[in-house]
Amino acid sequence: MNRVETALVNSPPRRALQRFYEIPTLLRLGGALPAEARVLEVGCGAGYGTELILRRFATARVDAIDLDPAMVTRAKRRLSGYGGRVRLATGDMTDLRAALDAEDGSYDAVFDFAIVHHVPDWRAAVAEIVRVLKPGGRFYFDEVTAAALATRGYRWLFDHPTEDRFTASEFVAELERQGLQVGARWRTRVRGHYLLGVAERPASGTAL
Ligand SMILES: C[S@@+](CC[C@H](N)C(=O)[O-])C[C@H]1O[C@@H](n2cnc3c(N)ncnc32)[C@H](O)[C@@H]1O
Repeated sequence: MNRVETALVNSPPRRALQRFYEIPTLLRLGGALPAEARVLEVGCGAGYGTELILRRFATARVDAIDLDPAMVTRAKRRLSGYGGRVRLATGDMTDLRAALDAEDGSYDAVFDFAIVHHVPDWRAAVAEIVRVLKPGGRFYFDEVTAAALATRGYRWLFDHPTEDRFTASEFVAELERQGLQVGARWRTRVRGHYLLGVAERPASGTAL
């Protein structure tokens, strides 16, 4: 992430959007989680989303990972008051075994606040999320689509992979192709530039 995007994602307007629109929308679409749910946030940045998960989803613990050590340092500072409720790691979310020792089916919920569009092989990112979800587990996502990334503003100001980005329906179709169920639980905003939703890994036994 370049300096302009780092400043933008940590700005008060972005945080307000996450707090007052994204979190309530994800809660409405996917429902709450039990306090004991094992939760992972990929691409946690400076940890603001992690804090919102702890406060608004009220889970006892969250694991969170980011590729950028500087972001993890900022997240550690922000989340220091939560003690053992947060486990932070630096690493690539396409290999969660290496970064967090995450076995297959180890999380009840995975959160993605605007990170999968940064991953060059975004289908591999989805595959890794599906791998670590328990049967009945949920994937809460908030993403930026090819339509936004193709705008002049995004191309001039930010630094993203340019090849093979996804539209909102391509992202949802890929989740379903990899075995998650989305149904009608997704929304787009700003002419399809942004996408929010919740997908569920079908339960073989008991769901959450
Ligand atoms: C647009 S920022 C979003 C940060 C935060 N989730 C938020 O909403 O404020 C994208 C974040 O994803 C991280 N990131 C990019 N590729 C990643 C990868 N392969 N694995 C883990 N984190 C990654 C970046 O370092 C950056 O912090």
